[in-house]
Amino acid sequence: MPHAPASPLLASRPAGPLTGRLRVPGDKSISHRALMFGALAVGETAITGLLEGEDVLRTAAAMRLLGAEVTQLAPGEWRVSGRGVGGLTEPADVLDMGNSGTAARLLCGLLAGHPLFAVMTGDASLRKRPMKRVTDPLSATGAVFRTREGGRLPLAVQGAADPLPLDYVLPVASAQVKSACLLAGLCAPGVTRVVEREPTRDHTENMLRHFGASVSVEDTAEGRVILLTGRPELVAAPVHVPGDPSSAAFPIAAALLVPGSRVVVENVGLNPLRAGLFATLREMGARLTIENERVEGGEPVGDLVAEHGPLRAVDVPPRRAPSMIDEYPVLAVLAGFAEGETRMRGLQELRVKESDRLAATAAMLAANGVAARIEGDDLVVQGQGGATSGGPVPGGGTVETHMDHRLAMSALVMGLGTRAPVAVDDAAFIDTSFPGFAALMNRLAGGEALRAP
Ligand code: S3P
Repeated sequence: MPHAPASPLLASRPAGPLTGRLRVPGDKSISHRALMFGALAVGETAITGLLEGEDVLRTAAAMRLLGAEVTQLAPGEWRVSGRGVGGLTEPADVLDMGNSGTAARLLCGLLAGHPLFAVMTGDASLRKRPMKRVTDPLSATGAVFRTREGGRLPLAVQGAADPLPLDYVLPVASAQVKSACLLAGLCAPGVTRVVEREPTRDHTENMLRHFGASVSVEDTAEGRVILLTGRPELVAAPVHVPGDPSSAAFPIAAALLVPGSRVVVENVGLNPLRAGLFATLREMGARLTIENERVEGGEPVGDLVAEHGPLRAVDVPPRRAPSMIDEYPVLAVLAGFAEGETRMRGLQELRVKESDRLAATAAMLAANGVAARIEGDDLVVQGQGGATSGGPVPGGGTVETHMDHRLAMSALVMGLGTRAPVAVDDAAFIDTSFPGFAALMNRLAGGEALRAP
């Protein structure tokens, strides 16, 4: 699909501190799932706080093509009238999932269990990403997938008329693969069993229960064992989507970098399987506290208060990676401003994100005067100190974002702290997860810290 012309953006040090209270858009993972479960439920699911980024709008469009009624009532407020488990109908057109790996992979699970034919594609970034990690296990349901060379999109699927339940041990720590297997399991009789050696975000399990499915989770010597009883009647249930912790990471990181800043991000999702960055920042000595902790719609939420201060280097263990997998680019930026050498371990999964985020993050730092190297699956960043002095990190580089929203936002946050401005080649993809990002950062900065060059 042709994309709009690139929109470059430049970030400069603001004249003063970042201050204020804000909300970030709804959680992307929960938003995709709310639309998909709504489409599979009987009745009308009311969603508030839905992320209206490009990625989630692709899922909304796909659910419509599969027969669900999906309507926006007001900003963030949506209704989905579902077809019931097994009730999706053949799409009359290609399902274009744009930039969204989550939408594409979860949808493969949904389609596998329905006796219909569908074709799926995505943008140039998504068409490079591996789909075999879902099509391999899902083929054991009886669904037949045909993909391009190397298991890439576009793909075609003939879903199974009588899907078999899966019994699958995840070879990679991936919530997307886990979720695809569980979604296929909804349409199969009997019990679907998925085992993960390292726990990954559990929004699918939580939402399955919320819609009335029977799901059990047990920690065993083999790993986390998830059992789902197939063919439940999912019943429409309201979903309140909390603010996305992965999006909150950017204004928080900016506040930690810019001298004198104090920023409060309200209503952020604090699911422990998503909160690895916040634990890591505290280990770095960041002034980061949580206020007003509460549970809303089955997920813990709170207000995060971030204040500027010195940061020290940290060694991030590989086990923490799934709980902060999308946050490494912005953590690497902060590590560049910290005192000492930071090592982030076990980042192999970063190679298959919207871009090769391991290589692209190292390149982003190098282009702006921070020494960074990749050792095996680790990223090592030589911190330059200076969070207190205002930042000796030179900056002045142009960052290639490779159609990756999180790289773009990480680079722009970096530019708020560097001596010379930081440019990104294309900020358009920020809209996949964080529409309004630049305006919001400028509001915190009280001026045009981010602007077109
Ligand atoms: C997601 C899971 C993660 C994450 C992605 C969203 C999800 O991917 O990177 O942004 O919603 O399940 P993997 O499961 O491939 O690690």
